[in-house]
Amino acid sequence: MLRFVSKSAKSTEELGSRIAGVLKGKEMIAMFGDLGAGKTAFTRGLCEGLGIVEGVSSPTFAIVNAYSGRYPVYHFDMYRIKDVDDLFATGFYDYIGTGITIIEWSENIGSELEPDCVRIRITKTDDENERIFEIEGLDAYADIIC
Ligand SMILES: Nc1ncnc2c1ncn2[C@@H]1O[C@H](COP(=O)(O)OP(=O)(O)OP(=O)(O)O)[C@@H](O)[C@H]1O
Ligand SMILES: [Mg+2]
Repeated sequence: MLRFVSKSAKSTEELGSRIAGVLKGKEMIAMFGDLGAGKTAFTRGLCEGLGIVEGVSSPTFAIVNAYSGRYPVYHFDMYRIKDVDDLFATGFYDYIGTGITIIEWSENIGSELEPDCVRIRITKTDDENERIFEIEGLDAYADIIC
């Protein structure tokens, strides 16, 4: 597991952008963390790293936003997903493996995540601008990421 301490939203976006640089194009990236943890900020940086120029925002109501950059990106927000039927209706199972799937509120679909997906847990600290990132599945790229 990799650990990274971010001291600003910009630093979180830069982390996302560095991680974009090591992706092969079909990964599932499952993010865990509270409201305001920085899941969307991280995704924004990742998309920027893939050359996506449109603005990235939380797809809370849409559930999924699709972007097209170096690879397709499917950005999910599972905040409102309560069960597998809800998830099925979003097209989640059709998107897997056709591009990068990056998921906010992965807590809500734990059983449906790919066993070997990249897992990113973001934790707030006492410092309002600090976030701890714990990243599973990208140890081979430690030099680039951290
Ligand atoms: N180090 C940091 N990394 C990321 N965001 C930070 C950091 N420090 C402060 N922030 C602020 O925290 C907020 C993160 O918001 P963001 O929308 O990315 O969170 P989120 O995890 O997607 O929340 P939600 O669950 O509501 O979708 C922003 O207002 C950002 O400016
Ligand atoms: Mg968000």
